[in-house]
Amino acid sequence: MAEARTLMVVGGGKMGEALVAGLIRTGWTTPDAIVVVEQESQRRAELASRHDGLRVAGTVAEASTGAPTQGAVIAVKPADVKEVCEALARSGARCVLSIAAGVTIDSLQRWLAPDAEPVPAAAVVRAMPNTPALVGAGAAAISPGRAAGSDDVAWARGILEAVGTVVELPEASLDAVTGLSGSGPAYVFLLAEALIDAGVLVGLTRPVARDLVVQTLLGSARLLAETGEEPSTLRAAVTSPGGTTAAGLSALEAAGVRNAVMEAVTAATERSREMGRPI
Ligand SMILES: NC(=O)c1ccc[n+]([C@@H]2O[C@H](COP(=O)([O-])OP(=O)(O)OC[C@H]3O[C@@H](n4cnc5c(N)ncnc54)[C@H](OP(=O)(O)O)[C@@H]3O)[C@@H](O)[C@H]2O)c1
Repeated sequence: MAEARTLMVVGGGKMGEALVAGLIRTGWTTPDAIVVVEQESQRRAELASRHDGLRVAGTVAEASTGAPTQGAVIAVKPADVKEVCEALARSGARCVLSIAAGVTIDSLQRWLAPDAEPVPAAAVVRAMPNTPALVGAGAAAISPGRAAGSDDVAWARGILEAVGTVVELPEASLDAVTGLSGSGPAYVFLLAEALIDAGVLVGLTRPVARDLVVQTLLGSARLLAETGEEPSTLRAAVTSPGGTTAAGLSALEAAGVRNAVMEAVTAATERSREMGRPI
């Protein structure tokens, strides 16, 4: 039998756990081949109890003793990434996937460069996932660093594909990805809130409005994904002349919804650019 692929996941928070759960669920590897480094002891206990056989450790050094891992995922908050990279460099990490928002490939490579020459720095792939990864329906973009070869990119892609879809883009596009699909779930949740309130306004109870709205969003997304049709085609198909949907759409256009969405994505993209600039 082929040996299981080994992985270190540093940061056992929401995204770290989503990745671990996806990798186990899809059979990317077995739980005992993953070690999660999490500094909080209560969280370590939770992770170990929720994922049978999963290895947990308090530090990168502790996780690196014994069998070396083939690669590491950085899933800590951006402010903690430098310290984690330095620990990974000391542990001899060869391939690193970072999902930390706003931390550039350049910074990752610098922090991962080992003090002791001539050992080469780790191959780095930077990614921007989103929270639907928690239910295996994420949308992520990946950007490889200079030292990352095609095997490293395939490795990083495989990890994120365990929890959703993946596109490969140059790093310069990651701010736009952050503004679109990174922040995108929040836009959809805002729309969901507004629709539920509107359902109540026209006389439905809140639980009924919620059920109808959730299924409408889910069903519409599935129609888009499964038919491959353009949104404009699907919208035209439900808009009969002089009908109810035409009246509703006219009110949305009059309120400038289309332009508001463009401004939202532009503002989020610009904010991501600002946050990524060195202080
Ligand atoms: N959630 C999202 O929507 C999303 C989307 C795209 C990208 N991301 C990125 O994903 C990363 C993780 O986000 P998250 O929402 O999963 O955050 P989170 O829930 O706060 O998880 C981070 C975890 O890492 C732990 N940690 C911090 N420093 C550590 C260290 N040196 N060694 C080991 N563990 C350490 C934290 O412990 P403490 O709580 O004790 O600090 C925490 O449990 C972030 O960089 C974020 O930018 C998140």
